[in-house]
Amino acid sequence: MSEWFPFLHEWLNLFVRWIHLIAGISWIGSSFYFMWLDAHIAEPEHPREGVEGELWMVHSGGFYQVEKRLIRPGEMPKILHWFKWEATFTWLSGFVLLGIVYYTTGGMYLVDPAVSSLSPGAASAIGLGLLVSAWFIYDLIFQSPLGKTGKAASAVSIFLIIGVAYGLCHLFSGRAAYIHVGAMFGTLMVLNVWVRILPAQQAMIDATKEGRKPDYSLGLAAKRRSVHNTYMTFPVLFIMLSNHYPMTYAHPMNWVVLLLLVGAGAGVRHYMVAKDRRAVWILLPVGAALLALFVMTAPQPTPAVGSGAGPAVPFTSAYAVISSRCFACHSSHPTDDIFKVAPNGVTFDSPERVKALAPRIRERVVVLKTMPLANKTGISQEERDLLGRWIDGGAKLE
Ligand code: HEC
Repeated sequence: MSEWFPFLHEWLNLFVRWIHLIAGISWIGSSFYFMWLDAHIAEPEHPREGVEGELWMVHSGGFYQVEKRLIRPGEMPKILHWFKWEATFTWLSGFVLLGIVYYTTGGMYLVDPAVSSLSPGAASAIGLGLLVSAWFIYDLIFQSPLGKTGKAASAVSIFLIIGVAYGLCHLFSGRAAYIHVGAMFGTLMVLNVWVRILPAQQAMIDATKEGRKPDYSLGLAAKRRSVHNTYMTFPVLFIMLSNHYPMTYAHPMNWVVLLLLVGAGAGVRHYMVAKDRRAVWILLPVGAALLALFVMTAPQPTPAVGSGAGPAVPFTSAYAVISSRCFACHSSHPTDDIFKVAPNGVTFDSPERVKALAPRIRERVVVLKTMPLANKTGISQEERDLLGRWIDGGAKLE
């Protein structure tokens, strides 16, 4: 049984992640497509009643004509396509994946003893609590009188996002903190669709069916939430990939790195959706944010990671540390209770592999300290320093 759980868990992870990716592509893809339509639709060649704009396209051997129009009372097509399941399935699969990776693995990825002493159960509760409360707070802000003036509400929201990023990065492991910020954005996005955007569209449709003039201001309110979703898109996409980049989530100031990347993503999006090309100014702060990121994550001089001083380290001592602290997971026959196959295909069975991987070992064990995972094998700071000195001394196999 103990053999089967990690095995099935891994396959479940694969399938759910696959579905999540497909659903996410359909969601973001359709939203990009409609933004593109809105940006390219032009006055109709032959003006027609109720038609605001039109556009011709050719794709996969067919010609398509799209009209953007107001719907007049009583004028409902028999079949109307909605775009709501893409968002819903992306969220559902993402939520299940969150559970698979973070809530059912004994806190291995969720908490980090070097960050806080939170128990996996408490951390899971905080994670879930965040997803629920974030929506109520966000919705309240934008439904309240404060929300009438978009600027004040946006300022409060930005302030809260900073708070959440800071808080999570001081409670969870770096990668879990990042993914929860992403999950929070994803939750706001999907609830915007279901709670604010779809009902407004439905109300307009109902009015049309009953022969009343639809209240187009409902459409405008829905539009605002959809603009919010627009700004969250690029940040969420980065966060989905973030666990591949320990230089971001394991940085000592990881919450600042996250906020800079989120800001840069939202800024680029602002430029893309702006009808006014003067919005190009936004690329300046985006550039500044990227520059700040490069500077912040630049390689540190050796003594800063505590591996500089001390006598030269022979390979046998370095290898002794690797075998006692890493083999449990990174060997061709892992003994770990969860990892039955070497993670990322990284094995240290042969000295040559260790030498070849030395730069990554330095990065993960000495600089970022994200390995051993959750320090499951109890490596000491002296052992980290020792590996650092061996690598800085040329990672010699003697
Ligand atoms: C409890 C299991 C476990 C232990 C013990 C462990 N690792 Fe890992 N390691 C992982 C997992 C899971 C991944 C893939 C996820 C990731 O990259 O964070 C990984 C990935 C890696 C990578 C490849 C990713 C990259 O950034 O290139 C390196 C290198 C690595 N570990 C080095 C080590 C070293 C060195 C040790 C011992 C000091 C060690 N690990 C101990 C689980 C473990």
